Amino acid sequence: MKDIFQAPFIVEMGETTANMYRQGWDERNGGNISYMLEEEEVAQYLDLTRVIRTIPTGFNAIKLAGKIFLVTGTGKYFKNIQKDPETNLGIVRISADGTYAELLWGYKDGGKFTSEFPAHMMSHIARLEIDPTHRVVMHTHPTYTIAMNTVCSTDERVFTRKLWQSNTECVVVFPDGVGVLPSMICGTEEIGIATAEKMKEHRIVMWTNHGIYGTGKNLDEAFGLIETVEKTAQIYMLTLGHAVNIIPNEVIRGLATMWDLKMMEGVLED
Ligand code: 13P
Ligand code: ZN
Repeated sequence: MKDIFQAPFIVEMGETTANMYRQGWDERNGGNISYMLEEEEVAQYLDLTRVIRTIPTGFNAIKLAGKIFLVTGTGKYFKNIQKDPETNLGIVRISADGTYAELLWGYKDGGKFTSEFPAHMMSHIARLEIDPTHRVVMHTHPTYTIAMNTVCSTDERVFTRKLWQSNTECVVVFPDGVGVLPSMICGTEEIGIATAEKMKEHRIVMWTNHGIYGTGKNLDEAFGLIETVEKTAQIYMLTLGHAVNIIPNEVIRGLATMWDLKMMEGVLED
């Protein structure tokens, strides 16, 4: 067996969460990540027949039966993951009936996966149906994105338009736009269902007054989506009330045509 502490998925998770913490996005235990792993890659590091304990999923995750995930622990701080991954992370396999998860490694102090597990798993189900290469769901609390969401309409077309108009990268990086949910109680099955519904159309979903979800086929891709929204939200907030030059519709459309992208409909007004 290889040393799991050297596994690329553990090393990369430590680096990514430390980076997110340094961005100021993940105060205290804010934020959570789930990363779907291939059975063959995990089998190089762990005996997959050895289940440490089981943890109820809290909803029926049968569509993910047998799938293995690396997931941040509830109440755990992103700033501590790199120095102690075995306490702050866990590797779980969804049971055949989808009602519990088998812990294969981690949560060493008796902990469990994030309280946002339903939103993560339901988002994986939604994104995998659209893109079989999808692997990562990332949730975080980026400062400027939350500030922009506080002063901007929760209409996802308006929110997407403001982003597309503030930075030419935006339509190229997320032509599918940003889905927006209203203020809701987090950690529930209900918010999980609502998030997954938005994930059918978008790879990024904003939770009003809370934070953002980004998805992708690897950690870099999910991070890059959120990073682009956050950078642009910062520009938006720095210029709020002062903007003279916003990106015209023909430039936004021209970028989408140049990169052969399908844009979210109804965002641009003309
Ligand atoms: P957890 O500590 O349960 O992951 O919750 C953090 C969070 O961001 C809730 O939305
Ligand atoms: Zn959160």
